[in-house]
Amino acid sequence: MIGPGVRSFLAAVLPALALIGWFVHRDLIAPGPAVMLVAAIAGGSLYAVRRRVKAEKAALDRLNRMAEEAEAQAEALRYKASVADRIVSSLPDPLLFLDRRRRVVRANRGAERLLDKNLVGRDIGEGLRHPDLLAAVDRALAGQGAQQVEVALPGPPPATFIARIEPVEPPPARRAAEEGGEPDQAVLLVDLQDVTALIRSEQMRVDFVANVSHELRTPLTSLTGFIETLRGPARDDAAARDKFLAIMQEQSERMFRLINDLLSLSRIELDEHSRPTEPVDLAEILEGVRGMLAMKAEQRGAVLTFAPPDEFQPVVRGDADQLTQVFLNLVDNAIKYGGRGTEVSVQVRARDSRRLAVDVRDQGAGIPAEHIPRLTERFYRVDAARSRELGGTGLGLAIVKHIVNRHRGRLSITSREGEGSCFTVTLPLAAEARREAAAPRTPQRRATG
Ligand SMILES: Nc1ncnc2c1ncn2[C@@H]1O[C@H](COP(=O)(O)OP(=O)(O)OP(=O)(O)O)[C@@H](O)[C@H]1O
Ligand SMILES: [Mg+2]
Repeated sequence: MIGPGVRSFLAAVLPALALIGWFVHRDLIAPGPAVMLVAAIAGGSLYAVRRRVKAEKAALDRLNRMAEEAEAQAEALRYKASVADRIVSSLPDPLLFLDRRRRVVRANRGAERLLDKNLVGRDIGEGLRHPDLLAAVDRALAGQGAQQVEVALPGPPPATFIARIEPVEPPPARRAAEEGGEPDQAVLLVDLQDVTALIRSEQMRVDFVANVSHELRTPLTSLTGFIETLRGPARDDAAARDKFLAIMQEQSERMFRLINDLLSLSRIELDEHSRPTEPVDLAEILEGVRGMLAMKAEQRGAVLTFAPPDEFQPVVRGDADQLTQVFLNLVDNAIKYGGRGTEVSVQVRARDSRRLAVDVRDQGAGIPAEHIPRLTERFYRVDAARSRELGGTGLGLAIVKHIVNRHRGRLSITSREGEGSCFTVTLPLAAEARREAAAPRTPQRRATG
């Protein structure tokens, strides 16, 4: 092949040589044909050079296009890699990539939060001292395939994870070098899935079934016992019969209450996610509760005081029956667990321009601090015997909590031993009441209840 430089050279030199040749032999060739010959040679050479230049320009264009495409592909790959990177970083599960020597090559944010910020470059055992997990990692590194192991971490707070250890396929270009080491190449993925909530809810389900069975068995055992006594030794004892029948009635009412509470709890849970929309005036609800519990308060010698707000109308979006249930349960507790002859006060106040708070306060023995976080669990009682003796099922506060949740509110409990307790329900005000709470009206506009 003749290169473009040589061609250009020949295109210039050949006509010049033809011209010199004619000059030397000008006595042999007439100037006319000589000029034509030189012109023909020059034209041919120039044509050949131009074609070559065109072909080379086209090849150059092709190369440029290929380079642009390669750059675009590299850009797309870089973008994909950065997306994958962001996905790995933001996945909620803690993820760790390990090399052949068990060292952390990469840790996502979840792993850094759970274990340590500076994991990269260190042995996984330094961040996660868990013998079962480390043994599973070693097995996976020894070529025994994917592994799964439960990892309980002491915390705080204690948590349980399912660790999945998966071998990672190395990229093809690196595979050849694999035998030689490539120590910083990720060969294992450790995914830690938090199953604490799952285990807790499974435990709660088991406890719940056990609790319900226990709560039902107690009155049933007593009923069966009295039936046997009435059919046997007390068959002809009229006085004993009356006494036993009264107890039996009380026990069956207790079972009824328990079943009713369980049913209403499951109904409330079913529609906990649908927020009620009807406007409800809490002053009216509390007035109704006062009427329903007046007699019980009198029997227990409790003084009930209700203080609806003067400065705004306490209207919320709610379910009137459920809100009645909330304050019935709270005031009932305050009467039951408040001291004899003491005051039970219910006060409604504007918490801020968007929320109101209802405080149900008693002057009872109070609740030891360690029990407070667990009071809204089903069947949780500080003093189970006393609660049962007072006819309680231990479901009242669980019902309160679910109803308050449905109303997007909050239940908070404060208590001082020996001084009494205060149960506060905070609820979002309905839009119309918010304006009033923000700009309080004059006390005369509303009669107190
Ligand atoms: N005002 C209070 N003062 C002291 N202890 C309280 C008060 N309110 C609730 N408790 C404690 O919380 C426990 C749970 O209350 P909860 O209302 O759920 O059940 P209960 O009153 O025992 O039964 P019931 O299902 O009839 O309401 C009670 O057993 C009691 O130990
Ligand atoms: Mg109660």
